[in-house]
Amino acid sequence: MRQRAYILLMIMSRLRPILLHTLALSSFFCVSAYRGDSNLWLPKADSGTSVEYKGKNQNAIKAAEILSKHLPDDYFKTIKLEEKKVKGIPYDGYTINVDSIERTVTVISPSGEGLLYGSLSLYRPNNCKNHSDYPRNQIRILNHWDNLDGTIERGYAGKSIWNWDSPLTKEQIALYEKYALANAMAGINGTVLNNVNASPNMLTKEILERVAEIADILRPYGIKVYLSVNFASPSVIGRLETADPLNKDVAKWWQDKAKEIYSLIPDFGGFLVKANSEGQPGPCDFGRTHADGANMLARALKPYDGIVMWRAFVYSPSDPDRAKQAYAEFQPLDGKFDSNVLVQVKNGPVDFQPREPYSPLFDGMKKTPLVAELQITQEYLGHANHLAYLAPMWEEFFEEAPQNNVKGVAGVANVGNNDNFTGHPLAQANWYAFGRLAWDPTLKSEDIVEEWAQITPWIDIDEKRMPEFKKMMCDSREHVVDYMMPIGLHHQFAWGHHYGPQPWCEIPGARADWLPSYYHKADSDGIGFDRTIATGSGATAQYPSPLKDTLENPATCPEKYLLWFHHLDWDYRLPSGETIWEALNRHYDAGVEGVAEMRESWQNLEGCTEPEIYHDIESRLLTQHKDAIWWRDGCLEYFGRKANLKPNKLSMHSLEEMIPVELGIDNYTNPSKDLLDKVR
Ligand code: GCU
Repeated sequence: MRQRAYILLMIMSRLRPILLHTLALSSFFCVSAYRGDSNLWLPKADSGTSVEYKGKNQNAIKAAEILSKHLPDDYFKTIKLEEKKVKGIPYDGYTINVDSIERTVTVISPSGEGLLYGSLSLYRPNNCKNHSDYPRNQIRILNHWDNLDGTIERGYAGKSIWNWDSPLTKEQIALYEKYALANAMAGINGTVLNNVNASPNMLTKEILERVAEIADILRPYGIKVYLSVNFASPSVIGRLETADPLNKDVAKWWQDKAKEIYSLIPDFGGFLVKANSEGQPGPCDFGRTHADGANMLARALKPYDGIVMWRAFVYSPSDPDRAKQAYAEFQPLDGKFDSNVLVQVKNGPVDFQPREPYSPLFDGMKKTPLVAELQITQEYLGHANHLAYLAPMWEEFFEEAPQNNVKGVAGVANVGNNDNFTGHPLAQANWYAFGRLAWDPTLKSEDIVEEWAQITPWIDIDEKRMPEFKKMMCDSREHVVDYMMPIGLHHQFAWGHHYGPQPWCEIPGARADWLPSYYHKADSDGIGFDRTIATGSGATAQYPSPLKDTLENPATCPEKYLLWFHHLDWDYRLPSGETIWEALNRHYDAGVEGVAEMRESWQNLEGCTEPEIYHDIESRLLTQHKDAIWWRDGCLEYFGRKANLKPNKLSMHSLEEMIPVELGIDNYTNPSKDLLDKVR
């Protein structure tokens, strides 16, 4: 009898922690995983746990250090890291085994990187359970467009976080560690530190020494450092007379430079190159091809396993259709690149518009590994003033564009030295979502944003209000498309800084393809860019059948791309029975209405963050609402005047009021609320 009671007691004591753990997991789901003073999605320091790791890998050592400071789930007593091969788990993948009786979690991976990712995955909601995962893309990289003078091209969150002037201070080291951990938690494994419009001085000895310091800090977090390079560097800082890629001295200059870089940074990732694009130097200046240029650099990096990411963002002012040019120039080079060259292609054929069809190069480059370039910073989506959760846009891209040759995903960073890193507090979700989608492009936007909210200490959304938050976030990008450029319209932005609408913009002597009229082609008959084979630029021919045929015919072309591929009469009827003009009105109104709904949702979410952040977001949403009205009125009034039609609703602003407005900002600035309120 006593023995039976003892056995029962033993069973109960074994079961109790399991029951408690089950309860803990369910509450894990209702509230955030952890709260703390961190302003990113980082684990907060609390009572640690015992971590066992016997190896010497620096990434695994870092993982053990993080786990021992920040407890992912207080149910577990021990976390073990084991470096070993597991069938079906690739090099940087991992598997998690949970022993609920022994209260032990074991992270297993063939590599230190995998152990790091597996360990950090434990901080995601409800993730201390048996599971395996691996990155679908080898390269998951941020592209900073940061300049040596601290400005950031298209950066809206302050100045660059990088310091090029002196050895790093303690504060800077702490900041870079925070940045590195945030990236590692999102799955990002590389960073290009400087602008694609690269200064040749980036490759001077003084700057390379600074780069090496940064690389030392990022390395334990599994993040490799890369640099954008200026193709003319040998003739600017190297005193050669040419930068011709087929010149022996030029090739030697790059080989020597590579040797110097690797002596400072043994695991340096490689070069990102913008060549013969928007005034940047390149191999075509010497009558050579992009492949000649890329291969010459690739051979200099090859002995050290470095790579070249060669951008396909090219277009010349003379061509009648900018959208066709990258394909026309790069597709014939398919198969001509060395094995350590990847061609980096923007998601769409023009330039990070709120909506673009995918670039046909994703079909056309069958023998060349590609990096898909996305833009996290909101150059064309309202800078840091507008809420635009971008994961739905990227999800659309990953679903529509063939991914067979995509080996990497690059994101133009939205990171600056603002307290919250990203200007708009909710734009942090874009940085996080970029990393998660680069890791696994099949993830869903709504799951990512829920996960982000649950692990982000400054936001606390309970189960009841989570659907409202997710809806606000996930609908936001479509609202932006609606109030800026619906039905395939594109590039209606203000000159230079790209904030606000300027369909009327005319600059004497300006490149035609930098003006909105080149893209909208609105006249008294109709609107849109005819890219058909039958009567237009023939851009549809760059897509394979049957997509080509679907896009070629306005009756089958998806409404969202209609004016991208077709010039249609104002009274052209959509399958819904609406005319193009009526449909435009519907979308512009829906966009403004959508922002009003987001403002309401945010009010319903009051209390989900501290008042200062709440009011900051509230104020940005108000600006967004005013901007959305400005966009709607500007576009409908302007196009209506062309068409001799009146907008359905009374506009709040007239063209006469809007046309003279100039913000007077540069390409490095987010327009403040005060400035916007003053000018309109
Ligand atoms: C856009 C952007 C530039 C940037 C360029 C690029 O044109 O406006 O600032 O340099 O893209 O991607 O190279």
